[in-house]
Amino acid sequence: MEPQVTFLPGNRTLKVRSGTNLLQAARKARIHIPTRCGGNAGCLMCKVEVRSTDGTPAGLTPPGEAERRKLGPLLEQGIRLACQAKVVGPATVSLPENPLKAAIRKQLEAQNEEDSLW
Ligand code: FES
Repeated sequence: MEPQVTFLPGNRTLKVRSGTNLLQAARKARIHIPTRCGGNAGCLMCKVEVRSTDGTPAGLTPPGEAERRKLGPLLEQGIRLACQAKVVGPATVSLPENPLKAAIRKQLEAQNEEDSLW
């Protein structure tokens, strides 16, 4: 049975072959994850957050040496490199918000808060 991956936000779910890395899965789902190193654990641009209920990132292979070296303590916060983490079971992954979108969202929230005071 093929494992299922869900990408948040947007809640896009798809089935992939076991062993597919998250970067490949995202591309299959037409979700853009930036990269500069071609998926070689070199650029750190493909960081994603893996949701888990019990502290262990279920559904993914454990981090390899390169990923551990690059991410260090971020691994404990559920951060993984999409190019290195392979899907082996059901997984839910959060993509970081685009910095420009985040700035606009914060500005709109501040504006709404200000408007509600009147
Ligand atoms: S694509 Fe560069 S670290 Fe993953």
